Amino acid sequence: MSQTSSGFVTVARVGEIPEGGVKVVRLDEQDIAVFHVDGHYYAIDDICTHDGGPLAEGPLEGCIVECPRHGAKFDIRSGAVVAMPATAPVPTYDVRVEGDDIKVGWA
Ligand code: FES
Repeated sequence: MSQTSSGFVTVARVGEIPEGGVKVVRLDEQDIAVFHVDGHYYAIDDICTHDGGPLAEGPLEGCIVECPRHGAKFDIRSGAVVAMPATAPVPTYDVRVEGDDIKVGWA
């Protein structure tokens, strides 16, 4: 992990996360799930807002991830809940690709 002056942290290399795949990275004791869908990368907390389920371990359909614990669904683009039992959105983070580096906004 390397901190940049812009507040973005390199979390992976391009090609490291396959299409439809995810990588969990740890930033300041926080697990962040970085998804790769349709050539775009999306980063969310890897913690379900219902009861802490590990979202990266759930099935991904398009941009919707399902919590493996009780089945809540979130849109990884916005963090919005699209299926109960979760009611609060999951935090999202900006992702940018610079050269071969995938970076997450981490102030
Ligand atoms: S912990 Fe995710 S749905 Fe309950």
